[in-house]
Amino acid sequence: NVLILDFGSQYTQLIARRVRELNIYCEIHPYNHPPKNQSEFKAVILSGSPNSVRGENVLHPDLSEIRGKKPVLAVCYGAQYLAHFSGGQVAPSNTREYGRANLSYIKSDEIFFENISEGSQVWMSHSDTIKELPTNAKLLASTKDVENAAYKIEGEETFAIQFHPEVYHSKDGKQLLENFLVKIAGIAQTWTPDSFVESTVASIRETVGGDKVVLGLSGGVDSSVAAVLLHKAIGKNLYCIFVNNGLLRKNEFETVLARYEGMGLNVKGVDASVRFLKALEGVTEPEKKRKAIGNAFIEVFDDEAHKITDVTWLAQGTIYPDVIESVSVNGGPSATIKSHHNVGGLPDFMKLKIVEPLKMIFKDEVRRVGASMGIDPELLGRHPFPGPGLGIRILGEVTAEKVRILQEVDAVFINGLKEDGLYDRVWQAGAMLLPVDSVGVMGDERTYEKVVALRAVESTDGMTADWVNLPYEFLQKTSNKIINNVKGVNRVVYDISSKPPATIEWE
Ligand code: XMP
Repeated sequence: NVLILDFGSQYTQLIARRVRELNIYCEIHPYNHPPKNQSEFKAVILSGSPNSVRGENVLHPDLSEIRGKKPVLAVCYGAQYLAHFSGGQVAPSNTREYGRANLSYIKSDEIFFENISEGSQVWMSHSDTIKELPTNAKLLASTKDVENAAYKIEGEETFAIQFHPEVYHSKDGKQLLENFLVKIAGIAQTWTPDSFVESTVASIRETVGGDKVVLGLSGGVDSSVAAVLLHKAIGKNLYCIFVNNGLLRKNEFETVLARYEGMGLNVKGVDASVRFLKALEGVTEPEKKRKAIGNAFIEVFDDEAHKITDVTWLAQGTIYPDVIESVSVNGGPSATIKSHHNVGGLPDFMKLKIVEPLKMIFKDEVRRVGASMGIDPELLGRHPFPGPGLGIRILGEVTAEKVRILQEVDAVFINGLKEDGLYDRVWQAGAMLLPVDSVGVMGDERTYEKVVALRAVESTDGMTADWVNLPYEFLQKTSNKIINNVKGVNRVVYDISSKPPATIEWE
């Protein structure tokens, strides 16, 4: 429905999310790789950019199919681009324009600003400013420091704004997007989780037909929702494989497997713990551990997939942030695809076709889609858990005994969070087993045992994260419980590092 042309702004994905929140479908494409069917989109949004329209690094989109032909909303760089190359003028701003500002003037008879009043707070983030509007432009709004904060090109449905409506601090940003998309572009707000399920089920049936599909379940939200969608579409032709790599949480394999069976999925549980532990023997370096675990998984999965006769498709729970092509600004205006463990995750020797039913939706949408299909909220609200599991939370070499210790510690921590109503306040939590022995005293005896670190973070996508200020009483209780109940641990510490510069996992 809506095409977002990306010029590399850190906020581009946010634009897409706001549009989706209005129940309108949209896609992000790099400005220099627009989709072939761009004439089918009903409106276009031009994103911001870290680049300047002045100087050498200007990014030139081809707007010949767009301008004057359909409604356009140009944000920040987009607004400056239209100004600079259509008879206006852009110059460096005298004052740095970052952060909150208020619209001191609004041309109030414009549909564009309907239900938005003067004084409305907006978010600015730019170092250039539009000194002169382009030819045929009409001023729509100003702030104290930015005279040309919004304009419209006469004779076209082309609107441009210097501020960022997609950022939460732009209080009426969503209203503005709604005015543009619904009132001006006339787009219907019909893209809901139910409609997504309906159209995706239909399209899976069409592409897959009567073929067999294999899918690896992980216990996480994405693969589970993908499985239920596929199951709805093709029923028993979906073959799910759930591998126990021996690095899962305590009792996770048994409970999750039972839950999947309860959901009616055709799932095979494969306990390959021994094989994974063997592959990890003597491996201490984090990336080598990841490789060893990844390779073992591919082998196990491939063995299992070969047991399904005539399977032709591999389903994956890839979601939109994994596949959005990003504009690589530093490497020049070439489009690169972000590398990610899910993308291109198909080993050469498995010559299966890929079906990815969630590849156009965001994480929060995956949850909404799951809820609309009746998936247990408990499953949908699970914290993310890394593919290599406890393998990258046991620092140094992984052994069966260390896995046992960490599983116990992790269970005390996670169950405690749930019991105290803290689980949903945390984006991700877990425990790390450190390769350190420290001295303690228990009763009259000196102990020399392991140290564990607890980590709980707030985040939206894992790219940045902050440690969670868990109540001292909770930490105290948890520490006591761990030391008293988990043999081999005599010291508990809490990780108070944010990301960056630390990462969420310790390896
Ligand atoms: P970091 O440690 O990079 O983690 O701050 C960010 C998020 O990614 C998860 N993570 C992984 N997930 N395979 C995965 O599937 C991995 O190798 C991996 N490493 C980190 C981590 O749990 C956090 O959610």
